Amino acid sequence: MSLTNFSAGVPPSPAGLPVKKVTVPALAEMKRQSMPISALTAYDYATARLIDEAGIDFILVGDSLAMVVLGHENTLAVTMDEMLHHTRAVRRAVRRALVVADMPYGSYHGAIAEGVANAVRFIKEAGAEAVKIEGTRIELVRALSDAEVPVIGHLGLTPQSVHRMGGYRVQARTAETVRRLQSDARALAEAGAGAIVLEGVPREVAEVITAELAIPTIGIGAGPGCDGQILVFHDLVGLTFAPPAKFVRRYADLGSAIRSAVEHYRDDVEHRAFPSDEESYHLGEAARQALASLPAPSTDFDSDDEVVNRDSLPDWTN
Ligand code: KIV
Repeated sequence: MSLTNFSAGVPPSPAGLPVKKVTVPALAEMKRQSMPISALTAYDYATARLIDEAGIDFILVGDSLAMVVLGHENTLAVTMDEMLHHTRAVRRAVRRALVVADMPYGSYHGAIAEGVANAVRFIKEAGAEAVKIEGTRIELVRALSDAEVPVIGHLGLTPQSVHRMGGYRVQARTAETVRRLQSDARALAEAGAGAIVLEGVPREVAEVITAELAIPTIGIGAGPGCDGQILVFHDLVGLTFAPPAKFVRRYADLGSAIRSAVEHYRDDVEHRAFPSDEESYHLGEAARQALASLPAPSTDFDSDDEVVNRDSLPDWTN
């Protein structure tokens, strides 16, 4: 490949300026330069595009898709096909941020070769630039690195282990479990992980792990000492239906904004206040005159014409 073609796949920004793409090695460079890494989840074109244009560094097509978009109780049910479908939509929207696909439960828990094959599908078929896997799967991380698939690890509270953990609980609260988490993080880094998401661990533990790793840590419910922070987009903007977790900061209440916009629209339709004349198309003068000179339509219906009896329609307002 010619180096002059190197950035050909990256469209320019709206201002026509070249975009400096965020990559997995760029995240490590940000850590070296003590630049905080911002990350958010996204699952569709519109929100991914807004998030990218807002300058977020790393977009995760999280398996939280199962809960916040598809309405499942936990993350376990989401499939490879669903994750691929949403990763493609995000990929089409993003120019600058790193696009990471979350590998769904069951797609990397069996044979190593199957995990690698599924990860390669995210790169080849959906345009992801890295995959994220939960837990300490050292052999798989090595195999993915050998297959040129950048990997982000995920330790601490790993939602795909909800049944084993007996619920969503803060992890690494005892000296022994802290030491295990430290050694898991070291092992992942040594095996080739490009970054590690630390979820649901005490801030002091995240600080120690962050200090000893050369690769970045991205925290969620892990305090301010990580190299970066990630949140679920729907939590950030108030598009969820349960009280948020302690670590969530709500920056907007889109739930209320959407509800009120939709109620306003319904009200306008019911009162014939939408659409207005300005929101309607008009005939030109000549067509209007031609229409006016046409004979009035007959009000006699052929017996064959189908007439809808509105009284027979069900009453949906009750
Ligand atoms: O699926 C997800 O949203 C995640 C988080 C790290 C936010 O894994």
